[in-house]
Amino acid sequence: MKISSAEFVVSNTDFRKCPATSFPEYAFIGRSNVGKSSLINMLTGRKGLAMTSATPGKTLLINHFIINNNWYLVDLPGYGYAKRGQKMQERLQYIIRSYILYREALTCLFVLVDSRLEPQRIDLDFIEWLGENGIPFAIVFTKADKLSSGKLQGNVDIYLEKLSEQWEELPPYFVTSSEHKIGREELLNYIDSINSELKMKEK
Ligand code: GTP
Ligand code: MG
Repeated sequence: MKISSAEFVVSNTDFRKCPATSFPEYAFIGRSNVGKSSLINMLTGRKGLAMTSATPGKTLLINHFIINNNWYLVDLPGYGYAKRGQKMQERLQYIIRSYILYREALTCLFVLVDSRLEPQRIDLDFIEWLGENGIPFAIVFTKADKLSSGKLQGNVDIYLEKLSEQWEELPPYFVTSSEHKIGREELLNYIDSINSELKMKEK
């Protein structure tokens, strides 16, 4: 899919104030610093579109970006940044979870996990929560440029093995690097195929 336009629309703390729309949207979630905002910039080819930072906890709002004037990408705050303090973490958790549960336009949630790490309890619990609530999701392994291809494949296999303890059918997954633009075509094609399916259904 070609990205002909990508524009910031609005930031919110409340899913009820997100844009009124019949367009499908795709949101990015995961631990703070996993690379959500960087991935949005890589996919759209717009470097400063979503704000990124080497310090965790940069994104604190629900950010909508409209793509090609007919679908949305959504950058969400990360979870699990302990230094934030209990109150702030609870507040962010509420923002994230209410958006995920009640945002009707949400078509697929991409759960980002760091490809360098073994499966983290916080991510596995979050994925389990998605399953309990019937939220469609896919896994995105990030920062693939930081590993050798052998190690990368090993880590992906370990992750899928772990997920298969919980899931009869594994979710779709993508291996990415925002730094090296890995996984861009695969992710955009996946989104494009869902968008086309939805259009067919409309007719
Ligand atoms: P929060 O908004 O704080 O939740 O973080 P985030 O998940 O949006 O992460 P962000 O995109 O801000 O990236 C965090 C750090 O990881 C930045 O220093 C990025 O440059 C770096 N980073 C992100 N993606 C990649 C990648 O694919 N490869 C490498 N090497 N670094 C990356
Ligand atoms: Mg961010």
